Amino acid sequence: MKGLKIISTGSAIPSRLVTNDDLSKIVDTSDEWIYPRTGIRSRFFCNEGESTNSLALDAARAALDKSGIDKNDIGCVICATVTSDYVTPSCACLVQAALELPNDIPVLDINAACSGFLYGLEVARGLLNSTGGRYGLVIGAEQLSRILDMTDRSTCVLFGDGAGAVVVEADEDALYDSVLGARGGHQISCKGVGYGTNYVHMEGNEVFKFAVDALPKCIFELQKRHSFTLDEISKVVCHQANSRIIDHCVKKLKANPDKFYKNMDHFGNTSAASIPLALAELDEKGMINSGDKLLLVGFGSGLTWAGTLITKE
Ligand code: UT7
Repeated sequence: MKGLKIISTGSAIPSRLVTNDDLSKIVDTSDEWIYPRTGIRSRFFCNEGESTNSLALDAARAALDKSGIDKNDIGCVICATVTSDYVTPSCACLVQAALELPNDIPVLDINAACSGFLYGLEVARGLLNSTGGRYGLVIGAEQLSRILDMTDRSTCVLFGDGAGAVVVEADEDALYDSVLGARGGHQISCKGVGYGTNYVHMEGNEVFKFAVDALPKCIFELQKRHSFTLDEISKVVCHQANSRIIDHCVKKLKANPDKFYKNMDHFGNTSAASIPLALAELDEKGMINSGDKLLLVGFGSGLTWAGTLITKE
């Protein structure tokens, strides 16, 4: 089975900047509470005319433009999201149509919450291998502001909107692997359409405990399979939920904290978008180069978890 390598990245950030001070004017909170507990200072929310689907499209277009490949060579489109504009058609299908991508390829959304992008990579890998396709477009996009209860300070300060995308290539020689799983459960939940108000609810402490256990386990498992040290990895990109969760992981692994990228200070937690947004930001800053090995680690609702070892072309 061929592995995957990253050819290019793209991102889209909505236009409304919301600082912790802005939130303190609408709920009983403060920068003094939010920042030390989460590492978040601000996030972006969609304005009128912006949505999960428009962000997904912009991020996908940017990744495709940068890839230099012919769009007719895209072999699948996967969008990881829990906030697609429509229940159906999928966000991925709308991106496919807008970018005029081939119509004889698999195109679908997946929901594995904040682990969704990494599940998406593995789904793309499977589809490219089974169909013989060469390139895949994998997107993580969210408009979480649409499902936030702005009177619930325990959730509304944590999340933000955004999208990231990558073009990947299926390659026999690519160093690629993933570990995926889920423990089930309702610790983070949001009801579907037809159930009245659909807001995110979260048992923050339970999720925290799960995350600090799951993140290092994913990394240890990949290390066991491929015998690498973190010195050989250029960057570890964890889901950007909370700076303290990443700090715990660094401590448990006795790792160099500089390896672990953090950008939740300006994006907050963007669920399925957080890892591809971070990848695109690293790429834009010139912080990932050709041949770099990356370790991507996610965790989220459903107590899903995922770890991916992948290389930048
Ligand atoms: O992608 C999904 C993954 N989600 C996560 O990774 C979330 C993981 N969990 C967390 O990051 C943390 O549990 C939180 C940041 C959500 C909460 O931090 P905490 O230190 O666990 O706080 P807590 O929930 O135990 O609440 C402590 C206090 C409570 O007040 P009392 O009962 O002690 O008087 C809360 O009501 O802080 C209060 N509180 C707030 N105060 C000011 C909760 N939210 C806020 C707020 N501003 N925004």
